Amino acid sequence: TSLREEAAKKDIIIGSGAINPTYLDDPQFAAVLALQFNSLSPENEGKWSFFNPTEGYYNWNSLDRLVDFAEDHNMVVKGHGLISSCCNPDYVLNITDPAALRAAMTAHFEAFMLRYDGKRVNRWDVVTEALKTNGSGLNTNIFYNVLGSGYIADAFRIARAAGPDAKLFINENLVESLPSKRQELYDLVSGLVADGVPIDGVALQMHITEVAPIPGVITDMVNSYRALGLEVTIAELDVHTLNATLQTDIYGAVIEEALHAGITDISFWGFTDKHAYTWLLGAKPLMFTECYEPKGAFYAVHNAMANF
Ligand code: G3I
Repeated sequence: TSLREEAAKKDIIIGSGAINPTYLDDPQFAAVLALQFNSLSPENEGKWSFFNPTEGYYNWNSLDRLVDFAEDHNMVVKGHGLISSCCNPDYVLNITDPAALRAAMTAHFEAFMLRYDGKRVNRWDVVTEALKTNGSGLNTNIFYNVLGSGYIADAFRIARAAGPDAKLFINENLVESLPSKRQELYDLVSGLVADGVPIDGVALQMHITEVAPIPGVITDMVNSYRALGLEVTIAELDVHTLNATLQTDIYGAVIEEALHAGITDISFWGFTDKHAYTWLLGAKPLMFTECYEPKGAFYAVHNAMANF
């Protein structure tokens, strides 16, 4: 069976992120994507500069292609990248007035969210990488510089106004492996909840390098956020190691614990090791070989899902 078939039995969203629409030109890529997954998310095409490079101008070609593909194959789409730490266009980077920046965010979010409203995009990464990579403070992006730490709450409020029924996530990296950053994210998110900020969940990127999260960490995160009324998802799993056995074990352990903890929304950051189809150039971090053969990692994920 495919991952998608196993997921359907248990009502699980199983997705591939990092989909660049040009990859769909490769019929094998498109076939595996539609066979194995019931969800996809864009790699960069949903980030600000990619479709809204100048004020008031929107190029929807790439995003439309992804959403159309998903509709044709009965898949859902996750809107990745409303606020990202990269890819902000000059017209945004040059804003110095807080009200003007909020207005730009409102126009950008409304354009993106309203275009795909009801068209299978109902989960959104509203703020990605709010925290510094190794923790200890917020990233100093344009939004932080102009609006201060309140930009995160502003972003969620603007997103809720544009998408009253959408699920809104904060997307963060490395919290599964860095205890202090894990606490920092929890403090940030619980503060948002206490302030009544409309947030629905925490999307764990899970770009793992060599070392599996300590057993129990994923479960603890799910439970602590559930106590706040929030959902936890895995948004961008990949495992960076050239040790195939270790990679297989890490994929299996993460998915097994995630499922048992109650996570029902899992995405990988791509699925083929084909060169340049993963951000980790030269690495083989994904579940299929460059020729689309399933690897040990695939079978480990499949077994975890089938036996759950
Ligand atoms: O499009 C420009 C092109 O015009 C230019 O000539 C070229 C020169 O460098 O750069 C191109 O942009 C690159 C873009 O990918 C598209 O290929 C950027 O430099 C490059 O930084 C960007 O990398 C992406 C990265 O996010 C940016 O932060 C990766 O493809 C993408 O996989 C990665 O994805 C992120 C998630 O969004 C958030 N979580 C972590 C994850 C991995 O870093």
